[in-house]
Amino acid sequence: MKGLYPGTFDPITNGHYEIIRRASALFETLIVGVAVSPEKEPLFSIERRVEMVHEVLQTLSNIEIQEYSGLTVNFAKEIDAHVLVRGLRSPADAQYEFELARMNKELAGDIETIFLSSGDNNAFISSSLIKQIASEGGDIAGFVHSTVQQALLAIYKT
Ligand code: COA
Repeated sequence: MKGLYPGTFDPITNGHYEIIRRASALFETLIVGVAVSPEKEPLFSIERRVEMVHEVLQTLSNIEIQEYSGLTVNFAKEIDAHVLVRGLRSPADAQYEFELARMNKELAGDIETIFLSSGDNNAFISSSLIKQIASEGGDIAGFVHSTVQQALLAIYKT
């Protein structure tokens, strides 16, 4: 069976990595879908986000990385994935994630969403916080892969 883990990955964090590693054990193939997400005005271009996802995930097997635009459920249908995987870091995430899952169910009744809970070490990580810390010169080494750390340093160095 094929699963789809969708996200913007601006940039990919250790939190995303943990969910991907655990989810990859549940499926024959896990597709990591990198959403173009122009409405989020990402810091990194889609090409750079995909490139970093490749670098961070290179040691994992049974993973495929694809960029997509438009609705996540349409992309899932295109690649014949019937399960969406999302990570839950906190009860606050659950509210938004349930809305997303319900809407996706309305849009595509044959696609299920499953949730994996983040480990304690990663439950407080978000891409926005990482960018904020990096922009203020803070140490992000514990939260992202070194390739992402370098990319953020290159952007924020003064
Ligand atoms: N560990 C660490 N951070 C995590 C995480 C985890 N396990 N899971 C999510 N996050 C973070 C993300 O980095 C993001 O952080 P940020 O807002 O600080 O950048 C945040 O949680 C919220 O994520 P979200 O806003 O849901 O974006 P996303 O990048 O995870 O991707 C899509 C969301 C792309 C899946 C969703 O917007 C989507 O499906 N878009 C396509 C359009 C569509 O289908 N719309 C209709 C939906 S009903």
